[in-house]
Amino acid sequence: MDFKLTEEHEMIRQAAKDFAKNELLPGVVERDNKQEFPTEQIKKLGELGFMGMMANPEYGGGGMDTVSYVLAMEELSKIDASASVVVSVNNSLVCWGLDTYGNHEQKEKYLTKLTSGEAIGAFCLSEPEAGSDATSQKTTAIDHGDHYILNGTKNWITNGNSADYHLVIAQTDREKKHRGINAFIVEKGWEGFEIGPKEDKMGIRGSDTHSLIFNDVKVPKENRIGEDGFGFKFAMKTLSGGRIGIAAQALGIAAGAYELALEYSKTRKAFGTEIKNHQAIAFKLADMHTQIEAARLLVMKAAVDKDNGDNYDLSGAMAKLYASQVAMDVTTEAVQVHGGNGYVKEYHVERLMRDAKITQIYEGTSEIQKIVISRTILQD
Ligand code: CAA
Ligand code: FAD
Repeated sequence: MDFKLTEEHEMIRQAAKDFAKNELLPGVVERDNKQEFPTEQIKKLGELGFMGMMANPEYGGGGMDTVSYVLAMEELSKIDASASVVVSVNNSLVCWGLDTYGNHEQKEKYLTKLTSGEAIGAFCLSEPEAGSDATSQKTTAIDHGDHYILNGTKNWITNGNSADYHLVIAQTDREKKHRGINAFIVEKGWEGFEIGPKEDKMGIRGSDTHSLIFNDVKVPKENRIGEDGFGFKFAMKTLSGGRIGIAAQALGIAAGAYELALEYSKTRKAFGTEIKNHQAIAFKLADMHTQIEAARLLVMKAAVDKDNGDNYDLSGAMAKLYASQVAMDVTTEAVQVHGGNGYVKEYHVERLMRDAKITQIYEGTSEIQKIVISRTILQD
């Protein structure tokens, strides 16, 4: 497989790297402490074209490939995984979902604002009793002719409060099980749409995670995405691509921690020499470097599969499963390389270690990725 990057890819990577260093790094520790959403930074990312990278230029998107997107995700995530999850949800779940399955009117009304960063999107599938088991939805949308009436609760929604537009997955016909599920565009502020309190999280504390409560919310029929009953497939197809973005986030978290550990090992002295000269530390760095390179190859393979029009359910699941484990392993070892300094906020690696854990949970836990992978390799 040829992973040679083009000049344009390198430019995108460099732009994301510069943005992360100049705009995200300065306040990242404070935002994490205060659980503060990176409002200004996301606005700027929108202006620079990072919020709708792969979307159709007709609707303000960048028309870029998935490789460009994962390069940007990796660089942003090296510094600030809270900002990068906002970028990821907006790009690969909301913009991609709307661009691929929405109609012209929906794209003109909603996608154009999401690609420019003027509006932020959220993807609302999980419920208090339906996370991994996503077909066990309890939220209902009952058909009333020209509109639906939406009732229920969604849980753990990224951008829950900051989003303007929410893609909500709901049951329209329980008898039909997953074939009786639809996806709707719901606007913040509609009557009966309530936002629950912010979750106090271990990591990605700068992102806002909320439950959402729908009490008789009137959703116009034109806000349904796709044919009646397409909602579960919509969610699964969209998540297959989203998982590539989260794999790139995990890769970035690992690579960011490794770069810090590498530098630290060259300056910190113990027993009369830089710690890099102790083989125990050098071997940790060797393992980290190898794991990161392997994760990067899997992420690239999934991105290239998607760009080539090949099936990426399997490669995306493998990339997410592996890269998220690498993120956990590498960040833990990066804290170890830093010794006591690794345990304090100033040195960044403790935050990266806390941020790493979520990549094994959201957009399908590691166990769910293994279900996707094993079902594929075992099918006749
Ligand atoms: N593409 C298209 N269709 C798919 C599909 C895919 N990748 N995967 C499944 N389907 C279809 C199946 O073909 C089937 O349809 P038909 O019967 O019409 O053929 C239907 O979906 C049901 O499939 P399964 O029988 O395989 O369903 P299941 O109940 O066994 O569940 C699952 C499958 C993979 C475990 C799925 O429930 C799943 O992915 N769960 C995890 C949910 C998840 O990832 N949530 C993430 C929420 S968003 C988020 O987390 C964002 C964030 O943090 C930032
Ligand atoms: P459960 O499904 O209850 O799983 C509990 C444990 O059991 C896990 O280890 C799981 O892997 C395991 N398990 C479950 N079923 C099986 C099985 N069949 N075989 C083996 N093991 C199994 N959701 C959204 O829709 N939109 C968002 O924007 C969003 N953002 C999130 C942000 C954060 C910070 C968090 C924490 C979650 C977010 N989620 C979001 C929800 C996330 O996708 C779910 O938490 C995740 O899918 C797991 O669901 P659950 O929490 O209900 O765990």
